[in-house]
Amino acid sequence: MKKNGHGYASGKIILMGEHSVVYGEPAIALPFSGTGIQTTISFHPVNESWIESSFFTGPIGQAPDSMNSVKVLIWQMIKQFKIQQPFYLKIDSTVPAERGMGSSAAVAVSITRAFFDLLDIPATQANVLYFVNQAEKIAHGNPSGIDATTISGVSPILYQKRIGIEPFELNMDAYLVVADTGIKGQTRKAVKDVATLMEKMPKKIGTHIHKLGSLTKQARQAILTNSPERLGDYMNQAQHVLTTLGTSNQALDHLIETALTHGALGAKLTGGGRGGCMIALAQDEVSAHRLQETLLSAGANNTWVEGLGAYAHV
Ligand code: MEV
Repeated sequence: MKKNGHGYASGKIILMGEHSVVYGEPAIALPFSGTGIQTTISFHPVNESWIESSFFTGPIGQAPDSMNSVKVLIWQMIKQFKIQQPFYLKIDSTVPAERGMGSSAAVAVSITRAFFDLLDIPATQANVLYFVNQAEKIAHGNPSGIDATTISGVSPILYQKRIGIEPFELNMDAYLVVADTGIKGQTRKAVKDVATLMEKMPKKIGTHIHKLGSLTKQARQAILTNSPERLGDYMNQAQHVLTTLGTSNQALDHLIETALTHGALGAKLTGGGRGGCMIALAQDEVSAHRLQETLLSAGANNTWVEGLGAYAHV
């Protein structure tokens, strides 16, 4: 066993297919280089294991309930790998929490990788997902698995529950602008509310879910044929359906509207919605940075630009 272990995980962006992915439709997501989480674990000379993070610093057993998924993940590691020495676990994150960027999955992936590094265990995606998926069930209730799968991988993916992952190269002449409303999203609640709607009106809601799935498939074709205008159009149509499902909110609508009136090719929420982040598609880097400024002036808390050309980063 080493003295220190290090783990890293980026955030994620869902381009198309949030919510419908829970019902078995495909979704497109990419690891998001604009944000990341670094975890360091080192052995501690005192007799209690500690955690240091922006949420809480103190003995792991005293961490608040909001960190239950992290606590359970750590206990699983201790049990599975028979770790007997106390340790100090430090989490540094630039992934904003509860903003649709997969912060809970990113924390779990980064912690798992840090333990694997400490214990010299190969951090294959399957090994990492074995632990992360369990933590995600505690954090999200009924996750589709897209966050954990995207964040534990390295490339954009087409993801479908029970069918699997299809990694693909994103090589578009376009840029994605990501803007944070500054309002905490409510993924767990939004997913539950869509499930309640589905129970009450299975036919109607099922049609919406299926529409989101079709739009995702069309978006994939638009990506493969390097057609940003078409992708933008599918994003707009998806936002319309997501609004009908009650997953958008005023702050998201305001930023989406602003982006569209300032030249975005398309715009929609990303992730669970009801707050969190929106994404806008820009045709080139100059328009992306212009949109970024406009969204900040319109009240966005933070913005990022991600190049989509050969999965290049800005
Ligand atoms: C959350 O990032 C994406 C949702 O589709 C939930 C899930 O897939 O688990 C809203």
